[in-house]
Amino acid sequence: MIKVAVVGSIAMDLVVTSVVRPGAGETVLGEGFVMVPGGKGANQAVAAARLGADVSMIGCVGDDHYGQQLIDNLKHNGVSVKYVKPVTEVSTGTAHIVLAEGDNSIVVVKGANDCVTPEYVEGALEAIKEANIVLVQQEIPFNTIEYLSGVCANYRIPLLLNPAPAHLISQNVIEQATFITPNEHEAKLLFPDMSLEGVLNQYATKVLITEGSKGVRYHNGKEEVIVPTFKVEAVDTTGAGDTFNGAFAVAVAEGKNIADSLRFANRAASLSVTKFGAQGGMPSRKEVEESLS
Ligand code: RIB
Ligand code: NA
Repeated sequence: MIKVAVVGSIAMDLVVTSVVRPGAGETVLGEGFVMVPGGKGANQAVAAARLGADVSMIGCVGDDHYGQQLIDNLKHNGVSVKYVKPVTEVSTGTAHIVLAEGDNSIVVVKGANDCVTPEYVEGALEAIKEANIVLVQQEIPFNTIEYLSGVCANYRIPLLLNPAPAHLISQNVIEQATFITPNEHEAKLLFPDMSLEGVLNQYATKVLITEGSKGVRYHNGKEEVIVPTFKVEAVDTTGAGDTFNGAFAVAVAEGKNIADSLRFANRAASLSVTKFGAQGGMPSRKEVEESLS
């Protein structure tokens, strides 16, 4: 069983469904409201665990009701919470999601996720050092990502950075990460002075650009290719990227090549969008394998 460490956010998703999305200064009547577990870090941890990895979550929640529910949810999915700390200073992170007009819009309030400092991660070094791959996203402090990429480079542990939500990262992190998985918008922000073609060429086999229903674009060392995704009836695309990242990490850590790992990850992500909630449709190993064969 491969070991995965996720350094990242844990949040409660507060999801409102509405026919129309309100514009600035506008009020509309919505249809429904649900709370489901989320946070990009926790989502990626759950995705990897459902696919059979031994996953350790390194993150923080508040010492409150949401925090306890989110810890219970991680445990229930088989994720180790040895390094999930309830902090007293701030509340559990929340994501305020509007599902309207066939798409989502999200405001994230980091809350306790800001307590995932370099010092905190240092306290979890044991789990990082024994991991076959480490995953990180951008809902925690940026100096933590910086610190983590140094640690992973030092110990030669593969690091997958999912640069979401979009934010600039240092050249240092770009060089040290093994894989970087932006969507098109994030890629343009990360590499403002380059064409996407140029980025893929320069960072062949490292930068993997996710293009939603089109698939994943990358350079395999010889040429630029696109690994197409699978057509499905989407119910809720929230967390599709997280499922993709968790699944890709598992596949690549197990020794699959990049093209096969992307196919596996695309399959997992496409299954995930057929159900409501970020973690709602995240498939089991069996479901992915059956639908790939
Ligand atoms: O990637 C999806 C996640 O982003 C949601 O679960 C929400 O928590 C936001 O952080
Ligand atoms: Na889903």
